[in-house]
Amino acid sequence: MAPHAVIIPYPVQGHINPLIRLSEKLASHGIIITFVNTDFNHCKMMKARNRHGILQDPSFNIRFVQVTDGLPFDFKRTAVSVEFFNALMTTMRASAEDLLDKLLIQSCEPPVSCVIGSSFLPWTIDIAKKFELPFVAFWSQAVSVQVIYRHLSMIIDNGDFPPKKQGMIDYIPGLPPMHPQDLPSDIQSGDPSNPVHQVIVQQLPALEEAAWIISNTVYELERQASNVTKEKSPVFLSIGPLIPSIYFEGEGKLEDFSIASPRSLSLWAESNCLPWLDSRPERSVCYVSFGSLAQISRVQVQEIARGLMESEQAFLWVIRPDLVSSEAGKTTSIDYIDILPGGFLEKTKDRGLLVPWSPQLLVLSHPSVGGFFTHGGWNSTVESLSLGVPMLVFPQGIEQSTNRMLVVNQWKIGLRLDSCRDDAVIEGAEIAKCVKALLKDEEMRKRSNQVRDTIMKAVGEGGSSWKNMNDFVDYLMSLPTKKMHLSRGSKR
Ligand code: UDX
Repeated sequence: MAPHAVIIPYPVQGHINPLIRLSEKLASHGIIITFVNTDFNHCKMMKARNRHGILQDPSFNIRFVQVTDGLPFDFKRTAVSVEFFNALMTTMRASAEDLLDKLLIQSCEPPVSCVIGSSFLPWTIDIAKKFELPFVAFWSQAVSVQVIYRHLSMIIDNGDFPPKKQGMIDYIPGLPPMHPQDLPSDIQSGDPSNPVHQVIVQQLPALEEAAWIISNTVYELERQASNVTKEKSPVFLSIGPLIPSIYFEGEGKLEDFSIASPRSLSLWAESNCLPWLDSRPERSVCYVSFGSLAQISRVQVQEIARGLMESEQAFLWVIRPDLVSSEAGKTTSIDYIDILPGGFLEKTKDRGLLVPWSPQLLVLSHPSVGGFFTHGGWNSTVESLSLGVPMLVFPQGIEQSTNRMLVVNQWKIGLRLDSCRDDAVIEGAEIAKCVKALLKDEEMRKRSNQVRDTIMKAVGEGGSSWKNMNDFVDYLMSLPTKKMHLSRGSKR
């Protein structure tokens, strides 16, 4: 009988995407997957797909099920909302526990053989333990970031939580010397009650007990950090990049990969910007996107617009409906037309396209895209590295400053923006200068292609990620597929 993994992502796009791609890989080896979405996200996905194509797809062996976070549908689920965080730690947990209870009582076929959970949901290990199932932790960030958090007590002992204004953080094993600004934002703020800090710190004990820690990274890109992690946790496996293998199979193969792919679990409708990209010269377009969570102040969005206007370069800019934060930090669905500087649309109409959400992998793999102006979320970073696109990195929180350090200082395939204002707003002139440099820097493009080659070797037969993925599949295949007849509250 085939093994059956229940996969529980933290319910945001940046965890759903790598885990659905992992699900597809595992399903292609004959492993049955139950993929757990919140009902809120499930509805958003269905709406984004215009209800076309049911999510259930028997040929992929992936079954989609829903749990609830208990919050009203119109509640603003933002990354920094304490209420959202609490709902995920309590109501979503109880709902997921009920789901597993039902799957086990109903003796679903094949029986559940393990739980794979985002490590951002530290309770996923508890419910795996309750039902005596092996647990696999999915680490959604760079392994360098894991190394930072594994040495948090060292950082605190050195008086760097928050970091001292002067001096380098040069004592963390496996990492290059870092500026204080390269640390994750919760460490920079030094506030232990910050919800992002809480979620990250709470996941660490689960890592110690997991059967495996799988990570969307590539050994060759984070060699020293991976070695340090492996010394402490031999069960650590880098299996990235988690993107469909079709993206490594050369041009032309993508034609049958339509936007309405049943595999897309986007929370917003993907705009078909490919015909527009087709009309642009090679490597001439700057793709601009700040992921699924970042909220940017109105004044900063206006400066970005000024920068794109002054750069005189072509651009494809993703402006999510909730991208712009109000001064009070609340989410507002502002119509972006109202906030863009006067004359912006008219002046850029021949070279700019604004969309609410894009099919990002297809965009980054398009020959006319020459650079990516990104917030440096880990998925966007891994996708850009894998497709050989240099980056201009503008971190917006979480661990994105650390990702920028890797992109700019370690791999040397990206640029950073300098602020000359006290309020930390980056001015349009600086953005214009960097966007131009991003598209023109041939050396950086060459290095980006070398990084892509390294990644292709890692995923190719015999490569590091290929081997690790095979070991992981072998492990799943070896799990006992015993039937369990449990009842709620049965002693485990
Ligand atoms: C967050 C954090 O920023 C990230 O660092 C963490 O590791 C995971 O959670 P997010 O801010 O959304 O995620 O950024 P990112 O990690 O880049 O994930 C965004 C995903 O949405 C990517 O897979 C990207 O391809 C996709 N996307 C983004 C689209 O498909 N279309 C878009 O228009 C924008």
